[in-house]
Parts: sequence; structure tokens; C-alpha cells
Amino acid sequence: MSRISDSYLATKVTTAEAAAEHISPGDSVGISGFTGAGYPKAVPTALARRIEAAHARGEEFTIGLWTGASTAPEVDGVLAEAHGLHMRVPYNSDPTLRGLINSGEVDYVDSHLSHSAQHMWFGFYGNLDVAVVEVAAILPNGLLIPGSSVGNNKTWLDQADKVILEVNHWHPREYEGFHDIYYGTALPPNRFPLQMTHSFQRIGDPYLRVDPAKVVAIVETDAPDRNTPFKSPDADSRAMAELLVDFLRHEVAHGRMPKDLLPLQSGVGNVANAVLEGLVDSEFENLTSFTEVIQDGMLDLLDCGKLRSVSATSFGLSPTGQQRFLDNMGAYKGRVLLRSEEISNHPELVRRLGVVAINGMIEADIYGNVNSTHLMGSGIMNGIGGSGDFARNAFLNFFVSPSTAKNGAISAIVPMASHVDHTEHDVHVLVTEQGLADLRGLSPSARADRVIANCAHPNYRDALTDYVERARAARPTAQHTPHLLDEALSWHSRYLETGKM
Ligand code: COA
Repeated sequence: MSRISDSYLATKVTTAEAAAEHISPGDSVGISGFTGAGYPKAVPTALARRIEAAHARGEEFTIGLWTGASTAPEVDGVLAEAHGLHMRVPYNSDPTLRGLINSGEVDYVDSHLSHSAQHMWFGFYGNLDVAVVEVAAILPNGLLIPGSSVGNNKTWLDQADKVILEVNHWHPREYEGFHDIYYGTALPPNRFPLQMTHSFQRIGDPYLRVDPAKVVAIVETDAPDRNTPFKSPDADSRAMAELLVDFLRHEVAHGRMPKDLLPLQSGVGNVANAVLEGLVDSEFENLTSFTEVIQDGMLDLLDCGKLRSVSATSFGLSPTGQQRFLDNMGAYKGRVLLRSEEISNHPELVRRLGVVAINGMIEADIYGNVNSTHLMGSGIMNGIGGSGDFARNAFLNFFVSPSTAKNGAISAIVPMASHVDHTEHDVHVLVTEQGLADLRGLSPSARADRVIANCAHPNYRDALTDYVERARAARPTAQHTPHLLDEALSWHSRYLETGKM
């Protein structure tokens, strides 16, 4: 059965190759996709082939690529391999593109995800020439049923000069009703408060809108999202999950949180997923989630009835999790909502709802500054993503990581973070498999003692303690955050020894 019920738009159906002809060298292109969900499956590959052919003729052809967040090999991967990008915003985790960013070929604007849409409207990135957006279906009145992610699609459709739609038959038509697209955003000074006081409240429409006059091509596909499996939780992840769940218990016991907790946000990665699995086995019930990505652990919590509802912008499921969702969509309807990332990650809402934020990190320093993005202060890993949107505004935030990386060669606890994404003023609790450090209400110097004692690996504890003691002795009039600058930074030379960079 046709998924394109609007008779005018049905005339725009064409091939991926013909659609890609609408994209010109130098264009800025806003593409759908978030954590391997809802990205266009055909046009980016056709575009990459066109770019390769242009390069073979000695012609220059690159585009600026704007997305919701990470995509998949069929978007970032093919365009990076074709050397078809000069600019990327707001998040990347593709290894080939990471290499091009770190070698200086591609400019990367690593941005808070809640900022990416509004920075577009503010004009910070210039004009958006083309949008390429995947949807599940087009209704007779031209409204669009979104698929497995929303990300920045609303903004790309609104702002682009030309629109290419991919209608993917793999997304069930039953996605209708799973989305809440807010159309009330305005530019300062004309903004109003967002009228949301609980995490599952609808404030928008179930559909995306597009001006039919801007639609230059529609391509039909039938291809699955490409998601990566999670590692089953190892002993370290389970230890961190237990520490964190126990800490939540402690907060409830002290009357700082209700017994059904506050809306949970859990970041990308295996550890965050392990924490969700830890909650399945806990006594907590009637939970809610206001988060960015729905992982397998969230489905587990929904399935066992402990999670009432989840609001996010995308799925980030393993292939088995994906199948589980698709096989039981009816059971999740009314409990799962996908919104634009400017809303799922909105600082105003995160603060009002009192979100409990759990995110991974690369390293933390003894004073509580957290690095989520860089290796040795220079090379990018992925990006800040939504971690800053949530952590800064959360009721309570956790940053989690194994205490060492690269088989113990690198300590994740360092004297001075080589790059800071979350400052000491924003970070509440650090968790490694060694223990948990509650930094709330502590001075920097007191934090250092607690982080070393509770979170550092035993192999690095003495060296870190020695560092702080010598820093304290060296600077009697600077005891607030004692440092020995040359030595603090030399810690990071361990990265070089691992051969990673
Ligand atoms: N030094 C060097 N490498 C390090 C490191 C350190 N201190 N800490 C981690 N790494 C490397 C790991 O060795 C691993 O490398 P590999 O891919 O070569 O094996 C990689 O970083 C991922 O680390 P891992 O321990 O598997 O954790 P993860 O999958 O949970 O990812 C982050 C951790 C920080 C990279 C990830 O959480 C991230 O990108 N965060 C930023 C965005 C974010 O928080 N988004 C969520 C908001 S909703």
C-alpha cells in the first residue's frame, strides 16, 4: 500500500540518484538521524557516488553536514569516505569521519544538542540549502508521520530552501501517535514558557509539517536502521550500576528524592545501559524518564512495568531491542514519546522536571572537572552531545567511567582534566568501579581527597595523593585548588604511550 497519500507530493517520487542532483557543491545539508535511527538510507550514498565522480573529474565537491546527532555508515561513513564534507555539526561518532576531523580535513562544531536548532534560527551557521529527512508516511493532507527519531527534523524542514523526503516502508505506519512535535518556538524576545510540568505531557502535534512547494524529490526505501549491539554488562559496569542505584536509595532515605525518584536521563554507552538494567532488579517502581535516547535498558524497565513512561528524541536500540520494540509497538503506545531534540534536551524543562542525569565520561580530575570529548586535550572522540544540556540543569547528575582505560595504562582520574566539558561547578557525583564520590557541598580541596580515595584505581592512588600533597606544600597562598601545572599536564603523556593518538 502506498505510503504517500498526498496526490501532489506523490508526483515528486523519483530515484535516489535524481534526488541527489538537487544538492550542489558547497551546500549546507540538514539530514535526519540520531544515534543510528531515522537517517535517510539512499540519498546520502547516491550523493557520495556523485561526489566521488566529481573528484575523479578534478572538480571540488564538498558539503556542510548538519544532523540531529550521530547517524550511521550510510550517512557519515559514506560521505567521509568520499571526502565529501567540509563541515559537520552538531555530533559525530563515526570513526572514519573522526579521523578526518582530527587530521584537520573537516571542521567540526561540537555543540550542545539543545542548542543546534536555535543556533540555526539565530543564523549562526548561515543558510540551510537542502533538507534530507526520512519519514514513515505522508498523509493525504501532506502531514508527515515521523519514524524512529525526530532530532532536528522540524527545524531542517522549516528552514531549508529545498526538501528531499525519504519514505521508508521499514518503519511501521503504526508510528503514528508516537511523536510530539512542538511548533510554538519563537525567537527572543518573543519566547513563552514551555507549558510542560510532567515528563510525559504532550505540548505539540503528532506530525511534522512541510511546505509542499519546497519538496523537490521523494525517494521510497525499505531499509532498517543500523544500530550496534550493546556489550552485556561486565563486572565493572555492574559494580557502577550497583553503586549508583544504592546512592539513589540513600537519597530517598534522606528525604531528598521521592520514592519513585525523579525523571531519569541516561546517556549513550554500555555503562549507562547497565545502570538501567540495574534498576530492573531494584525495588524502585513507577519511574519516569525524560531523556535523549531510548536504549534496551529502558525497554526492559517498560516491559517489567517499573517505568511508567519515557520521553526522548530517538531510539538507540540494539538489533534485538529494535525487533522487540517493533514486535510490540501496541504495548509501548501511550508510554513512549519522541520529541524534537530542542525539547527533549531543553534546559528549562530539565531544570523544572528535576531530571536525574547519568552520563559517561572520558576522564575527571580530582577537583571534579569532567572531560567527555577529548583524548589528551586535542583529539575529539565523539562530542558533548546532550550531556551538558542534562548535567548542567539536572536535579542530580552522575558521571560514570571505569577508573582506567586501555587495560589499565591510563587513569581516568587525573590531576587536571586535559579538556573540560562539565566544570567543577556543575558536577555532582563521580562513579567508577572503585566507588562513588559525592562532591555536593565540598570545596575543591576536599573534593580532591574524596575523588582519590573513592574513585581512583589503587595503582594510581598514591601518585595522585603525592601530587596533591606537593601542590598544597608548594602554594601556601593558593590552597583553594592546588596545582603543579607542568606536572598536572604531563600525566596525559600516558595517552601517547598507548599508541591511541
Ligand atoms: N583515555 C583514553 N581513552 C579512553 C579514556 C581515557 N581516559 N576513557 C575512555 N577511553 C576510550 C575507551 O578506551 C574506548 O576506546 P575504544 O573505542 O578504542 O575501545 C572509548 O573511549 C569508549 O569508552 P568506553 O569505556 O567503552 O565507554 P562508553 O562507550 O560509555 O563511552 C564516552 C564513553 C565518554 C566516549 C561516551 O559516553 C561519550 O561519547 N560521551 C559524550 C556524549 C554524551 O555523554 N552523550 C550522552 C548525552 S544524552
